[in-house]
Amino acid sequence: MKGVVFRALEDLVIEQHGIQTWDSILDQVNLSDRYYLGPQSYPDEELFSIVQEIGRILNVPLPDLIRGFGQYLFGYLANSHKDIVSQFDSFEALIKGIDSVIHKEVKKLYSEPNLPSISVDFSNSDSLIVVYDSPRKLCFCSEGLIYGAAAHFGVTVKIEHQQCAHHGADKCILLVRKV
Ligand code: HEM
Repeated sequence: MKGVVFRALEDLVIEQHGIQTWDSILDQVNLSDRYYLGPQSYPDEELFSIVQEIGRILNVPLPDLIRGFGQYLFGYLANSHKDIVSQFDSFEALIKGIDSVIHKEVKKLYSEPNLPSISVDFSNSDSLIVVYDSPRKLCFCSEGLIYGAAAHFGVTVKIEHQQCAHHGADKCILLVRKV
């Protein structure tokens, strides 16, 4: 995973719980004094062990924690990549453009990023079907990113996780409804 994702997590933890908490999390997972650089790649296991440790000390179930992080991550990425996100004038257009525009630009900016495959269908005028497929199984992070994108455009959505790779499905299906 790219350093930018770790940096967003670090930012969130420091903002809500202080720098000592972040430092003690790194100590707990044997990554004392680790400093993440945005464009560089770090092992996925590092991210997962940090997230698990946060879940343990805050006593928050991992899906909720990862969803909350995804929501924060959207704002972080939108801020650090304003030129990409400003290309979209609506929530629907952005969600439709995740693979074909956003992650395509990410491939130009970062060397060998690990990105999911995301396809989008309009089920009717008020809902979208988002199919998430990735060996990293970060579907809860996707949910959070979608909530973050909705907040960015001032709309409210509800997401139904209709099928999930954590329950044996080959990919995840998210039904995103505007409310
Ligand atoms: C990685 C989904 C918007 C840049 C990821 C991952 C997910 C994801 C789930 C983790 C990797 C995986 O699951 O395989 C989404 C969704 C978005 C969205 C659902 C919108 C709702 C954005 C935006 C940017 C961005 C706006 C920045 C312009 C990245 C980067 C990575 C990433 C840099 C890390 C790649 C790596 O670690 O190698 N995306 N994304 N994404 N995304 Fe997105």
